Amino acid sequence: MNKKTRNLISIRDITRKDLEEMLALGQRIMECPGEYKDVCRGKKLATLFFESSTRTRLSFEAAMIELGGNVLGFSSADSSSAAKGESVSDTVRTVSFYADIIAMRHPKEGAPKAACTRTEVPVINAGDGGHFHPTQTLTDLLTIKTEKGRLGSMVIGLCGDLCFGRTVHSLIEAMSEYPGNEFILISPEELRAPDYIRMILDKSGCSWREVRKMEEVMEDLDVLYMTRVQRERFFNEEDYARLKDTYILDAEKLIPAKPDLCIMHPLPRVNEISVVVDDDPRACYFRQALCGKYIRMALIMTLLGLEKEMRR
Ligand code: NCD
Repeated sequence: MNKKTRNLISIRDITRKDLEEMLALGQRIMECPGEYKDVCRGKKLATLFFESSTRTRLSFEAAMIELGGNVLGFSSADSSSAAKGESVSDTVRTVSFYADIIAMRHPKEGAPKAACTRTEVPVINAGDGGHFHPTQTLTDLLTIKTEKGRLGSMVIGLCGDLCFGRTVHSLIEAMSEYPGNEFILISPEELRAPDYIRMILDKSGCSWREVRKMEEVMEDLDVLYMTRVQRERFFNEEDYARLKDTYILDAEKLIPAKPDLCIMHPLPRVNEISVVVDDDPRACYFRQALCGKYIRMALIMTLLGLEKEMRR
């Protein structure tokens, strides 16, 4: 990766070629994780999480630890100087004296982008409001590649909160680059994907449509990507209560589905996938969470320029 792309703010910061290389590295790490145990010896990752997280923060930290590096950081705005009124830029500028790479999550759209202008240290967007979540997309791509063996020529159903769900925004950005993909956006009217995402789809030339019911399209799907209704981004509790259980995937709804359907979810799940589905071999979401650690190992190595050293 060149100097210009040392931050990961949007999935489009990575060229298709770099993306393919990172996925290949993720797959190699998955096969032989032990070979990478000293790659980041002496390096530090800071995780600055101004918003709650389980998988993203802990998989970043596990990734750095498995690469032989160290981690520091905070897991909520309350336990940082943000609680005293410090700006994100000042926090990031300071932390860059203590760490070699920064992963940051923030409830405000654009905060990681603003922060990275104040530091030379690579900054990774670990989720900014309802905007983007590029490292979840790397996780999703590694999962799809591993489960299906390809990233193109697929019918992809995205279901749930397509308005505030940042994971689907980044995933659409990435998957619309691959030829032959068709997107079916499944959401209630109020939770439709924002205009800028629909514009990306229009520009990509991929075929796409919107439907209200998952039953209508179940038999056509190669990937079904479920999402939670993003309660924390709602303006009022009544709207959330009305919309939260719009979709509940259960065994019955899966009857017409393909035998090799890949059922994904970035997690956390609330009600949108019944726990009985967990035992279905097509349920990939926990394997997906594991892919998150391996691809973040590959990402950290790439942004620190260490992936080339491993090839020597
Ligand atoms: C997602 C997020 O934070 O956007 N979770 C994650 O990172 N795995 C999805 C969500 O919170 O619904």
